[in-house]
Amino acid sequence: MTASRPVVFVTRKLPDAVEDRLRRDYEPRLNRDDRVYGPDQLIEGARGAIAILTCATDPWPAPQIQRLPDEVRALATFSVGVEHIDLGAARARGITVTNTPDVLTEATADIAMLCLLGAARRAFEAEALIRTGRWAGWRPTQLLGLELAGAVLGIVGMGRIGQAVARRARGFGMHIHYCNRRRLPPEVEQGAWFHHTLASLLPQARFLSLHCPAGPETHQLINRETLELLPRGAVLVNTARGSLIDDEAVLDALASGQLFAAGFDVYAGEPNLHPGYRTRRNCFLLPHLGSATIETRNAMGFRCLDNLDAVLAGRAAPDARN
Ligand code: DGY
Repeated sequence: MTASRPVVFVTRKLPDAVEDRLRRDYEPRLNRDDRVYGPDQLIEGARGAIAILTCATDPWPAPQIQRLPDEVRALATFSVGVEHIDLGAARARGITVTNTPDVLTEATADIAMLCLLGAARRAFEAEALIRTGRWAGWRPTQLLGLELAGAVLGIVGMGRIGQAVARRARGFGMHIHYCNRRRLPPEVEQGAWFHHTLASLLPQARFLSLHCPAGPETHQLINRETLELLPRGAVLVNTARGSLIDDEAVLDALASGQLFAAGFDVYAGEPNLHPGYRTRRNCFLLPHLGSATIETRNAMGFRCLDNLDAVLAGRAAPDARN
């Protein structure tokens, strides 16, 4: 007789390699159709499970965590962001929350550059011209965009992803300015210009890219007031979280020319983004693809499993967040 293996409730469909490892080491309760579970289904799925492998699409506010069965010991989120989980409520229930830092840094920084270039070089309008059969040939004044070389890129939040974006942007000849809670040491700063406040950074930033975590302190930090501080015709990039920006204010700035363009990968209320974006031509919009490479999504899954292995073996989880 084989001893029964611990049940792990997996809330979304994961890459095959990750599900294979889950099958090897656990009794996984998989979500084969990748349906988004509601609050009751999340609690139902957790019955008899010792751990939950969740995603940023599953909200875990305190009341939901309080409903979890007593056996649940770990909540591993397949994301670096943990804003969808009430960490204090989980701690109070003795549930370890873990996330997936590091492994998605490079993929997410790539997507930030794609958003930056897509917005600056009018990629949406350009593609639409071809796909709708309206391209009549090369013209000296067709779809003129903005040059990255020589321009200032302002980075809000100079953590791992912000630094990876800075490395890439330097390769494009951009000058890096940044605003962060702490100034970075010179070997990390690499000549980037530090600003104590957003108000000091914004007037310098022809391009602005957001890389700070979501939370009460950063809620709608890009709003009517802060947009006015940018140079006229700036480009705004958001690959962090939609809650960082006030959509109405950004749409007005895109209409008035205060913003030349925006490049977004994330939205408030995903997947129901503000409908105003769909009809604006000076937006380059992606459906939350930051970490979406085969390599990174596998690595995120393995990182979740390393954390679950540790918690369930009574060891400290490498990425415990609470
Ligand atoms: C993350 O890891 O936080 C990504 O945005 C996926 O949710």
